[in-house]
Amino acid sequence: MPQTIVAIDVGTTKVCTLVAQLNQRGQLKILGVGVAPSKGLDKGVVVSIDQAASAIEASIERAERLSGYRISTAYVSVSGQHIASHNSHGVVAVQRPESEITPGDVNRAIEAAQAVALPGQREILHVIPRIYSVDGHQGIRDPLGMSGTRLEVEAHIVTGEAMVVQNLMRSVQKAGVGIDELVPQPLASGEALLTPEDKERGVMLVDIGAGTTSVAIFAQGEVFYTGVIAVGGHHVTNDITYILRTPQSSAEQLKLQCGSAIAGSPPEADDPDDQLEIETLNAGEKQNASRHMLCSIIQARAEQLAELIYQEFQRSNYAGMLPAGIVLTGGGAQLARLDELIYAMLGLPVRIGMPTALIGLTDTLNSPVYSASVGLLHWSLRSESLNRGYHPAEEYQIRGTTLERVKGWLSIFLPR
Ligand SMILES: Nc1ncnc2c1ncn2[C@@H]1O[C@H](COP(=O)(O)OP(=O)(O)OP(=O)(O)O)[C@@H](O)[C@H]1O
Ligand SMILES: [Mg+2]
Repeated sequence: MPQTIVAIDVGTTKVCTLVAQLNQRGQLKILGVGVAPSKGLDKGVVVSIDQAASAIEASIERAERLSGYRISTAYVSVSGQHIASHNSHGVVAVQRPESEITPGDVNRAIEAAQAVALPGQREILHVIPRIYSVDGHQGIRDPLGMSGTRLEVEAHIVTGEAMVVQNLMRSVQKAGVGIDELVPQPLASGEALLTPEDKERGVMLVDIGAGTTSVAIFAQGEVFYTGVIAVGGHHVTNDITYILRTPQSSAEQLKLQCGSAIAGSPPEADDPDDQLEIETLNAGEKQNASRHMLCSIIQARAEQLAELIYQEFQRSNYAGMLPAGIVLTGGGAQLARLDELIYAMLGLPVRIGMPTALIGLTDTLNSPVYSASVGLLHWSLRSESLNRGYHPAEEYQIRGTTLERVKGWLSIFLPR
C-alpha cells in the first residue's frame, strides 16, 4: 500500500491542503486538493488562532472529501518575517577513527553545529547539513563509511520566533491535525521547482505571496540562505486602493487584468487605450484613470520589492555568483513583466517556476500559487528517504503529533 502524504500550505490569502501518494514510478499522484480562503493571518503569521484554525479546517475538509482519506498528520509550511537563518560549523572527533565514520559521528557533528546561543524567544526549525570535511579534506558530500579522525560539517540553521511558530502549530492542531514537520515556505517551494543542477550551480528562489516574499539561496547542491520579506502582492493592491481611491476588490481586479510591473513610456494625451474606468469609493460612481498611472503605481512597489530581494542577497553574505539565476514563484510572480523588471534591476537570468510532473487531480495545481503546497510533498519524500535505513537518536525523531514532540524536533538531513 503506497504511503499517503499530506501537505498544508498556510498562506496569507489561501490555505491549500494536498493529499498525495507516491506511485511505483516515483511520481506524486494527487488524490485530493482543498483550497480555502485564509483567515486570521497577516503577512504570513497567525494573528487569530481561532480564525486560522477554521480556515485550515475548511481546507482539510475539502481535501478529505475529494480524496476519501482521513487526514491525521501533515507537513505544514511556516512563513513570516521572523524566519531567519545562519550557517554554522560543527567539529567532532570520530569515535572509532580506525574504522568507518558512522551515522552517530555525523549526528554528533550536526549537533555541534547547532550548539549556538539563541535568544530565548527563538527556536531552531531546521538544521540542514551542507557540506562535510574529513581530516581537513573539504567538499565531502557523504562522509559515511570514510575513515578519519576529525569530522567537520557546515550546516544551515533556520530559526523562527517561538511564539509565532507555536501559534501556527496550535492553529493546525485545533483544526484536528498533527504536524509531521514544519517547513519554511521558500524551502518547500524550492523542492518543487529547482533541479539538482540549479542548486549545484547557484540559484535564488523567490516566492512572492500576498503578505510575504520568501527567499532561499541554494549553492553547492544545498540551501545557503533562507529569509522572508514582509512585502508581497497585497502591498501592490493596497497602493492601488489608496492612490486611485478605489475599493480593494476593484484594485485587485485592476492589478490582475490591466497591471504591469513596467509602466512603459507615457502615452499620448488622447490615447483611448490608456483610459480605464474604475470604481470610486462611493458605490456606483466611476472615475477615469490612465493605465499608465496604474502601472506606475505598481512599478514603484515592484521596484521596492526588487531592491528588498537584492538586499536579501547581500545579507546572505553569499560570495559566489548565481549562474542559474532567479526562479520566481507564488501568486505575485504572475504580475505582468515582473520578471523583466527584476532582470533589469538585478542583472540575473529570471524564470517563473510552477509545479510540474504531477499526476492525478492536477488541474488547479499548475500555477505558481501552489509551488509551496506541492513542494511540501516533495520535501516529505526527501525527508523520509534520507532518514530511511538510519535511526537518528530518539530526541531527533521528526514524526510526532504532540506539541512537545514537535517543538523540540529537528529535521536531520543525512548526506546524500
Ligand atoms: N495574475 C496575477 N498578477 C498579479 N498578481 C497576482 C496574479 N495572480 C495572483 N496574484 C497575487 O498573488 C498573491 C497571492 O499569492 P499566493 O497565493 O502565492 O499567496 P499566499 O501564499 O496566500 O501568501 P503568503 O505566501 O504571502 O503567505 C495575491 O496578492 C494576488 O494578488
Ligand atoms: Mg505562499
